[in-house]
Amino acid sequence: MGSNPIDATDSLIFIFMFILGIETSCDETAAGVLEIRKTRAGFFIHPLSSVISSQVKMHRKYGGVVPMLASREHTKNISIVVKKALKQAFQSESEKEVVSKIDLIAVTKGPGLILSLLIGLNFAKTLAWKWNKPIIGVNHLEGHLLSFLLPSLKNKDNPSTGSSYKNIFPVTCLLVSGGHTQLAYVKNFRKYKIIGETRDDAAGECFDKGARILGLGYPGGPAIAAEAEKYRIPNTEYRIQKLPRPMADSDDYDFSFSGLKTALLYLIQGLGTKKAKKHSPAIAYEFQEAIADVLIKKTIKASSEFKTKSIILAGGVSANERLKEKFQKKLTKSGMKIKLFVPQLEYTTDNAIMIALAGFFQYIKQGKKSLNWKKIEADANLRLR
Ligand code: KG4
Ligand code: ZN
Repeated sequence: MGSNPIDATDSLIFIFMFILGIETSCDETAAGVLEIRKTRAGFFIHPLSSVISSQVKMHRKYGGVVPMLASREHTKNISIVVKKALKQAFQSESEKEVVSKIDLIAVTKGPGLILSLLIGLNFAKTLAWKWNKPIIGVNHLEGHLLSFLLPSLKNKDNPSTGSSYKNIFPVTCLLVSGGHTQLAYVKNFRKYKIIGETRDDAAGECFDKGARILGLGYPGGPAIAAEAEKYRIPNTEYRIQKLPRPMADSDDYDFSFSGLKTALLYLIQGLGTKKAKKHSPAIAYEFQEAIADVLIKKTIKASSEFKTKSIILAGGVSANERLKEKFQKKLTKSGMKIKLFVPQLEYTTDNAIMIALAGFFQYIKQGKKSLNWKKIEADANLRLR
């Protein structure tokens, strides 16, 4: 690409680029810069900056994301967040200097809240036009799926190498976020087939709704995980009442979480407010176990039936420590030689570096076909394919 010439002294490098990622699909305004070098040996992934302006505090009092407020906050913050990401990446205040370095803009075009998506997309299109840069529209879910490849920003001087991931395919990917729960068969980078998904609530949504029922606040995933952590030594006064594991044994790869939320509600109503409050850690623990059990069982079943070499966990719910721990234990116990890949904690929830990375893979697959800002449109219901 234009501004970052291939290093003539290293004939092995055939792509060397800086990608600006922009993400506004839900309630995080995010921007980041990713450096990528592709050589004959593989590709090197080097995040230079990742700035996230979270709206969690604002939405907390409503118990969930309020779309109108989300888009208002994106509008207020996007320019500041992008500026900060560029400044951090290149250690420079000069717009001219940082702009000259960027080779590609990657922006989320869906799925997500339409008003939120449009703010990021229109901002990115304006930059592409003003700076005369190519732009690529990215599927947010593909960003999540690839985020396991990203090395931590805390380890800034140690880029990860994509070549070590050459032998992981085919892969089963469990994508679990606030809006999605999907199982995908991944034959190779950018070759996805959805084999199962939730019929009602997403796993993250189930955590969020469960936390609301338990009076634990928003977002529900971390709140339930923290409450469940308090339940270390089994409470002798209270025998945990088992919650259902919906569709755990069904013949397909679909999920259903709305019944689990209702079962929790009935359990709390049956116990009464005082008792439910007293035993809240035990109840949160069982609720978390139920979600984790279903996710793990279905994913391992898919991996074994589709004979995949690895499993990737992705999306906000993959931040859940208990889920990761149980997953690994189950795989080890089963004796199956399936490798488990999870993103670094900082990339489990929405960020722009994963969007930049997905933009890169799209760029090398599609070439310059999709780089015209006039051709990119937001799609709130965009699917992974
Ligand atoms: O991927 P994400 O940031 O946004 C969407 O694209 O939806 O995922 C957000 C979801 C929320 O539902 C949140 O409760 C859940 O991820 N989450 C967790 C944890 N951290 C975030 N769920 C379980 N355990 C966690 N530690
Ligand atoms: Zn997400």
